[in-house]
Amino acid sequence: MARIAVFNQKGGVGKTTTALNLAGLLARRGADPLVIDLDPQAHLTSVCNITVPRADASIYGLYAHGTPLASLTCSTRNGWKLVPSHIELSKVDSQFGKGPTILGRLAAALDREPAERPVLMDSCPMLGVLSLGSVFAADGVIIPVSTDYLAMKGAVQMERTLKALEQVLKRRVPRRYLITRYDPRRRMAADIERQLRARYGNEVCATRIAENVSIAESPASSQDVFEHAPASRGARDYTELLEEFLVTRFIRLTEREARPVLRTAPPGARTALVAEKDAQIRRNLTAGLKLVPARRIGT
Ligand SMILES: Nc1ncnc2c1ncn2[C@@H]1O[C@H](COP(=O)(O)OP(=O)(O)O)[C@@H](O)[C@H]1O
Ligand SMILES: [Mg+2]
Repeated sequence: MARIAVFNQKGGVGKTTTALNLAGLLARRGADPLVIDLDPQAHLTSVCNITVPRADASIYGLYAHGTPLASLTCSTRNGWKLVPSHIELSKVDSQFGKGPTILGRLAAALDREPAERPVLMDSCPMLGVLSLGSVFAADGVIIPVSTDYLAMKGAVQMERTLKALEQVLKRRVPRRYLITRYDPRRRMAADIERQLRARYGNEVCATRIAENVSIAESPASSQDVFEHAPASRGARDYTELLEEFLVTRFIRLTEREARPVLRTAPPGARTALVAEKDAQIRRNLTAGLKLVPARRIGT
């Protein structure tokens, strides 16, 4: 199970951040992840410093012309592959409708990709062809929930949306609610966590992603948090999250990729210029960031 949609109908909850950092971790394990930017705002595409001159060269090409994903895929300096987005993507619903063929288009395209390749789909908050299509294509959905009242409302809406989709799909979509931007100093954070765990039990990740400045800063330098600040709390939290997903088999990798590795730069991203910085990062990492075994689920 390695096709994961990151989706919540609420914006600003950490969807793109989660896709960026999980992709970085998977690349460091040699898993060659494919990331699909389904948000017309193209935040992830711009974090990768990629601009596509024409909409047809973005994921829009799949919806407009049935262009295969392989022809739309770009390499990123972050060591993983991206199918970029384009603002024109916001017209997909009005141009192509919401019929079953268009909703299933992404799933059909991914079925032509190697089955073992991990795929992360970064969704927009709107409920439409792009986000629903990502759930159709997914083996599992990560629902980031930042610890505020409106994000909690978004989570409840998401549960309703998934229930409705499941009637069409005729299967339960495995899902994990991920608490993001957690700040223990805010009483509301503990309240939201309590409510989430009471409602969704083991479908709430044991790992929480703390509010962390390194996570917020890293996209400005087109980096994930592991490259930007490998010893940070944010790097530790996302590392722990992937471990949890692997241990609970929410994400399944090949045996080789599932083994923890201590590599700070994604494959292909290292150059002679960054070699020294990388060596320094490695020393910090060894000192400060150990791959932590996943916490007991439900605690
Ligand atoms: N754990 C975190 N700590 C601090 N800032 C965060 C964290 N997660 C996300 N952010 C910041 O919050 C903003 C919204 O996050 P983003 O991932 O773009 O949300 P979404 O994709 O759901 O709209 C971004 O500026 C991002 O850098
Ligand atoms: Mg986003």
